[in-house]
Amino acid sequence: MRMIHISQYQESKMKLAKPIYDAKGRVLLAAENRVHPVYLERLRHMGITTLIIEDEESKGITLEEMLDMRTWIEMIQGLKQIFDKVASNQLFPISVLQSIARKLVAEVKQRRAIMLTPSTSLPAELSPYAHAVNVTLISLLISKKLSYNDLQLHDLAIGCLLHDIGKLHSKEIEHTEIGFSILRKVREISFLSAHIAYQHHERMDGTGYPRGIKGSEFLEIAQVCAVANLFENLMSVENMPPHEAIEMIMTQNGVGYLPSVIEAFVRSVPPYTPGMKVALNNNMIAIVTRIESHIQRPVVRITSSNQEISLASNLNLMVSKVLTNEGLKKELHI
Ligand SMILES: [Fe+2]
Repeated sequence: MRMIHISQYQESKMKLAKPIYDAKGRVLLAAENRVHPVYLERLRHMGITTLIIEDEESKGITLEEMLDMRTWIEMIQGLKQIFDKVASNQLFPISVLQSIARKLVAEVKQRRAIMLTPSTSLPAELSPYAHAVNVTLISLLISKKLSYNDLQLHDLAIGCLLHDIGKLHSKEIEHTEIGFSILRKVREISFLSAHIAYQHHERMDGTGYPRGIKGSEFLEIAQVCAVANLFENLMSVENMPPHEAIEMIMTQNGVGYLPSVIEAFVRSVPPYTPGMKVALNNNMIAIVTRIESHIQRPVVRITSSNQEISLASNLNLMVSKVLTNEGLKKELHI
């Protein structure tokens, strides 16, 4: 299976590899189905722009690096419930939050690599919550490289899940302060978690907001969330492929964020993800099949010969260009 932009869907050649869910988390279209053009239009209307499909090219790609779709949706639904309760001034559902955080920590602990399920594979209504879950996943991956202990992982997960809770009241700069004040009132939420909401738009050079803090005032744990937030936004809002988003974030080394955080980030997130079409430096065209031992050097399948090669054990070979995105950019006119 592989991910495509909805504009690349071809009914005669492609079946759904994963179900499509509605905003209530119900299956709208089951796996194995083909998508009728009328339905494609409906999906676009709902804000769904990424499809996970199976076709001739994607055979043998399992996307095991992705979280189980059901588990992912349940976490997103759970997070939405929390936001809804806070919006209507009900008792803060702390146990729901803690259980989502625990599940995410466990997922990240047991996996070597994680490939994000794009928030654009869900109806737009759910995208803020899918964004928060994805930011948490990236943050936890980074913090694994920073050797955080269980307590720090838990605080980080809670803070990341709720980093934008202030947006319930304002989408502007002040969402950070509002978020901080909401979280400070919940006894079970730590000072550090609340600071993640407060500081996730700050930058080390003092050009961030809301306070423009500098240097060590910008807590490392909040920097982890800030970098993850930036990466998720570049991918989902800007439609940028991971290798480009990573390059862009690397330019922020020591300027926006601590070199140790950027370095941990680069070592955590795969630039070439399964299903991507790439050109190698020997001019061969290949498709990424899986990520094994090396996060930057995946296993690829040469299109012309069907031969699988691990770039981790063939160091003379490297990805010279990502092709999927070139075609997609043309189609999207960007
Ligand atoms: Fe934010």
